[in-house]
Amino acid sequence: MDKLVIEGAVPLHGTVRVSGAKNAALPILCASLLTDGVCTFRNVPRLRDVETMAALLRFMGADTDTTTSVVNVRAGSLRKPEAPYELVKQMRASVLVLGPLVARYGRARVSLPGGCAIGARPIDQHLKGLQAMGATITLDHGYVLAECATLKGATIHLDMATVTGTENLMMAAALARGRTQLVGAAREPEVEELARVLNKMGARIDGAGTDVIHIEGVDVLHPVDHAIIPDRIEAGTFMVAAAATGGDVLVEGVIPEHVEPTAAKLREAGVEVTREESGIRVRSPGGRGLRSVDITTAPHPGYPTDMQAQFMALMSLAQGTSVITESVFENRFMHVPELTRMGAEVEVHGGAAIVRGVESLSGAVVMATDLRASASLVIAGLIAAGETEVLRVYHLDRGYEAIETRLGPLGARIRRVRGAA
Ligand code: EPU
Repeated sequence: MDKLVIEGAVPLHGTVRVSGAKNAALPILCASLLTDGVCTFRNVPRLRDVETMAALLRFMGADTDTTTSVVNVRAGSLRKPEAPYELVKQMRASVLVLGPLVARYGRARVSLPGGCAIGARPIDQHLKGLQAMGATITLDHGYVLAECATLKGATIHLDMATVTGTENLMMAAALARGRTQLVGAAREPEVEELARVLNKMGARIDGAGTDVIHIEGVDVLHPVDHAIIPDRIEAGTFMVAAAATGGDVLVEGVIPEHVEPTAAKLREAGVEVTREESGIRVRSPGGRGLRSVDITTAPHPGYPTDMQAQFMALMSLAQGTSVITESVFENRFMHVPELTRMGAEVEVHGGAAIVRGVESLSGAVVMATDLRASASLVIAGLIAAGETEVLRVYHLDRGYEAIETRLGPLGARIRRVRGAA
């Protein structure tokens, strides 16, 4: 396992270009299951999760390769419409094959993901929606078996705005017979992006980006050539890192509206965030020069849960007390004990963390159990005095493309040590 070694207290300066969005790429790769022929996706980020998705597509019999940012997928006819436990346990988003498989092959066998580091994360809404479209769902030895010769359009009321649930049902409904209405749908930009791709393939989807999505089923979808939107969470992570270190960084290629919830909170804290022609520029007096602000995570367009841990690292030095409320996942504070080991003052009370800004953090050996928690430890390492070692970098590699090669050119003293503990 690799580790990152960071020499902190260096302001970041310069320009960084944002990669393609992980959480858009994953469902879009699955959309290729809905058609014969070769789909071409561009600006695909080179991440461990993308490799896992490609491995899953290959396991089922599709042809693909992820050696560059241009990924071709030929799903043709699959040998095995199945997502095995070995792959689902590495990546919950594997469940995104469920909708396309039932729609196209009438049958899917997908391992139940089980709980994960950030919460229980059931998939009951995905299953409820497929059932409403006529699928029979059975649970067997840890697997969900969904079967239906022809899915039929239905009105589905989601109990919560689930992102992958909305995506799964949108893909299933694209090939269902008749009209589907998803009420209470997730409004994330990645959902809109998937709808855009499906529509390019010939689907008839309306309303993506709002909480009611209408899908008129079609008989056949066609291959597509599509460039994936930039990653708003990667961009937000760079923005917060720039703010925390007292830097001046231009994050290029970002869609400004997508990072507005993060930008708005940074401005409240005293960071200058401006739009430039090529992206978003962040200029900051640095952690101690900032004011504490409260955040509450919420589905889009609220403050993203995927940016909560990073913002906490920023608040660990700000003047005053910040209340950070996590309302999307029940257990997404695993970075807290590690930040505390670096000198942060954070108390967790249920779904809220109270962060009292301190004078400084000190470098330490830390370890995270999920992707965004790891990103917060990298930011903490960038502002701490002395050396920080972030262990288990494989969590970070799931969602950030070689982060040390992105932060290094901005002046960060960060290096990867391969094969460490
Ligand atoms: N939920 C249910 N039942 C369901 C579905 C969801 O109870 O059937 C609950 C979840 O347990 C959670 C809440 O609803 O408490 C929201 O979960 P959601 O389904 O929206 O999450 P997801 O689709 O599994 C995606 C992203 C996550 C991101 C969340 C929230 C992908 C591949 N993953 O997960 O990204 O945190 O939406 O925005 O799109 C990450 O990139 O680090 C990451 C975890």
